[in-house]
Amino acid sequence: MNTRMRRAAVAVAAGAMAVSLAACGSAKEADGEKKPSGAAAGDAIKVGLLLPENQTARYEKFDKPLIEKKVADLTGGKAQVVYANAKQDATTQNSQVDTMITNKVNVLIVDAVDAKAIAGSVKKAKDAGIPVVAYDRLAEGPIDAYTSFDNEEVGKVQGKALLEALGDKAKDGQIVMMNGSVTDPNAALFKKGAHSVLDGKVTIGKEYDTKEWKPENANTNMAGALTALGKDKVIGVYSANDGMAGGIITALKAAGLSPLPPVTGQDAELAGVQRIVAGEQFMSVYKPYAPEAAAAAEMAVALAKGEKIDGIINNKVDSPTSKGVPSVLIPVVSLTKNNIKDTVVKDGVYTVDEICTDKFSAACATIGLK
Ligand code: BGC
Repeated sequence: MNTRMRRAAVAVAAGAMAVSLAACGSAKEADGEKKPSGAAAGDAIKVGLLLPENQTARYEKFDKPLIEKKVADLTGGKAQVVYANAKQDATTQNSQVDTMITNKVNVLIVDAVDAKAIAGSVKKAKDAGIPVVAYDRLAEGPIDAYTSFDNEEVGKVQGKALLEALGDKAKDGQIVMMNGSVTDPNAALFKKGAHSVLDGKVTIGKEYDTKEWKPENANTNMAGALTALGKDKVIGVYSANDGMAGGIITALKAAGLSPLPPVTGQDAELAGVQRIVAGEQFMSVYKPYAPEAAAAAEMAVALAKGEKIDGIINNKVDSPTSKGVPSVLIPVVSLTKNNIKDTVVKDGVYTVDEICTDKFSAACATIGLK
């Protein structure tokens, strides 16, 4: 949304607010919508934070501490963040929502294990007067706000990088596609974006949806694909994230492939960046977690206090159950050996020393990373 549109939206929202204030609380109650429970708490609110898993480094290394820090900054350290991780289990995550409701959190930030399975819990929270911010994955149910990246664009960036790596050899063999979990709506968007770029330009020999995004499942599937297609026929691998790229590269090495075919990734995990330095992984997608976490914290704190979020959002998206969800979407960057310094190092995600440990120092020198 451009500035003019944003101003217009704010003006419309301000007008609407005046009308609803004039109509007093009665219209709201008729809608079944309650005043947020945190409205009277000032900055001393309780924010529930639910993340989906901990096998992917980002969640506990970046998302959690970044959200906690931003919530503290916004509330002068008065708010409390209550955290739980579902470790890939949708049933566990539903019970975690119940616990958060019992603990009377004033707002929930949820990164869903399973976007459909969480819908009933989102409704329960809403019924208890707890606004819900969907984090990274678009949870179904009556969410109030959403923040993520342009996830179809992530898939396009991955697909384009793979084509670039293959160059004029794109049709000299087959590629294998390793998508994410079917319970994650982002995985479907990554896959859609990648297909929109790759279809017709490469031959896709095998394609998998990887159960629970697990690196070990990607490893098993990759070993199976090499056997089925013939290891010398595989010229490239689309991997939806870095965790799986790790499992895939282990399988490629175990089969004795040398040189390794180009493999994509996502998340700019330290291990992924180091594989890029070493020439084992072609690329990753750098998604700056700080602005995503900041948007989630800003929207959560505002919603808990019963404040408008029109000034924070830059988009509206539709989920299968909710139309026009106020959203903040953040752009992504393709990460290769050529721009490590201008991306993750510049943004302070990793220092050169963290990346260029003894094991990688020679490779770092070769690509001029110092
Ligand atoms: C996230 C990725 C992550 C994947 C596995 C996706 O929803 O956007 O960053 O690698 O889940 O947890």
